[in-house]
Amino acid sequence: MAKIHQTFVCQSCGAVYNRWRGRCEACNGWNTIVEETGATGPQAGPVKTRPSRARGRVFALEGLTGEVKEAPRIPSGINELDRVTGGGFVRGSVILLGGDPGIGKSTLLMQASAAMARTGERVVYISGEEAVAQVRLRAERLGLSSAQVELAAETNVEDIVETLSQGRPPALAIIDSIQTMWTETVESAPGTVTQVRGSAQTLIRFAKTSGTAVILVGHVTKDGQIAGPRVVEHMVDAVASFEGDQGHHFRILRAVKNRFGPTDEIGVFEMTDMGLAEVPNPSALFLAGRDHAAPGTAVFAGMEGTRPLLVEIQALVAPSSLGMPRRAVVGWDPNRLSMVLAVLEAHGGIRLGTHDVYLNVAGGLRISEPAADLAVAAALVSSLSGATLPPETVYFGEIGLSGAVRPVAQAPARLKEALKLGFAKAVMPQGRGEGGDGGLTTEALRHIADMVAGIASNGPRRVASRRGHNPPDYGDDD
Ligand code: TYD
Ligand code: MG
Repeated sequence: MAKIHQTFVCQSCGAVYNRWRGRCEACNGWNTIVEETGATGPQAGPVKTRPSRARGRVFALEGLTGEVKEAPRIPSGINELDRVTGGGFVRGSVILLGGDPGIGKSTLLMQASAAMARTGERVVYISGEEAVAQVRLRAERLGLSSAQVELAAETNVEDIVETLSQGRPPALAIIDSIQTMWTETVESAPGTVTQVRGSAQTLIRFAKTSGTAVILVGHVTKDGQIAGPRVVEHMVDAVASFEGDQGHHFRILRAVKNRFGPTDEIGVFEMTDMGLAEVPNPSALFLAGRDHAAPGTAVFAGMEGTRPLLVEIQALVAPSSLGMPRRAVVGWDPNRLSMVLAVLEAHGGIRLGTHDVYLNVAGGLRISEPAADLAVAAALVSSLSGATLPPETVYFGEIGLSGAVRPVAQAPARLKEALKLGFAKAVMPQGRGEGGDGGLTTEALRHIADMVAGIASNGPRRVASRRGHNPPDYGDDD
């Protein structure tokens, strides 16, 4: 009789232990370790399903060039989605689509399935979470019930693979979600890391042999109770994450890993009551509702992959009553903010040590570019001084520890987008791209101090108020 192995597996990173412990040493997660039966080691996947053969089988070896019968990529019919995958789904590839529950993954994939089915491709949607009737109801609400998408509510991967193998292989198969799938080859309970990994392995093998593009949906939960799909990340060809703020309408699809395309592209969608709508011009969306007259806001000309994106950076600098002033950031790196604050103090002649600083990227967007430094600095100085920044100006540039403003990539694309959206001026680093794109005046900076002086001279208030407090009126009474 086969020996039953008792192992303890971290449900967030997949590390295996031979006894229970409170904290996973691999990922430092607390209470993530759960007893599983049947896992056989660190790579515990499906137990061998075929009897071992005494001799190997000879298979044909092929060259790099060869006949490709079908188009290697199948466009989904949704431009924002194709942009992220790099021009459509690659046949035989597996994509993991992660995101918080309720963010809109099922909605997006239902829309993609319907769009692709309309082009005559065979598309199968397997739901492990919702009953067929529920999925139909959603499709009806989205106005997609006429699309020829094949639908099933099923959770056993062996049955799924068997069903999909009947007839013409589907161009696209959606598995919603990988956490609900289970395979007979692994004894652990559904939802555990071992099951998720085993099921994913079986589905990946199916994708590679049939040429079907498979999308695995994975819920990312923070508490580690449900197996994190992170363990699947290294097995799949591409990982995309669907992000957004529950309080905001738009959603961003971001490629995190992509063996067949770029990883820095984003797709922007807006959640409407008719499902997800594509947003071909996100800058206009992110700048909508901007308050031109308020100090502390600056428009950052950013880039997401090859796409320029203008966003509003909001700062609030207020005198603190705390011994240790607050620094709160939404949508940007807090360490980066600390650095910009330190540089402003050291090289810009600004005192912020007794002020609370709040920074927000408008609309719930998350930016990671160092090029946002200059816009952040401008917003901070503007808030502190009470001087409104000129509304038709965009900012971009990286700030070094010496206070030097350093050039950033793709300046021409940023300037072009700003011009397109009606901006008249760009404050940017000296060097690359300077001189503008006909029609846009540029102010090239060498040092952060130049900008601080510029904002102060524009504004009704001095930059470093002596009392550290600026009354909210903008009159020039002093
Ligand atoms: P869903 O796609 O079920 O999320 P996930 O699969 O990522 O868990 O989306 C659920 C949310 O989307 C739900 O809060 C309702 C909202 N929604 C709309 O606002 N409009 C729509 O047309 C649909 C179908 C959903
Ligand atoms: Mg769902």
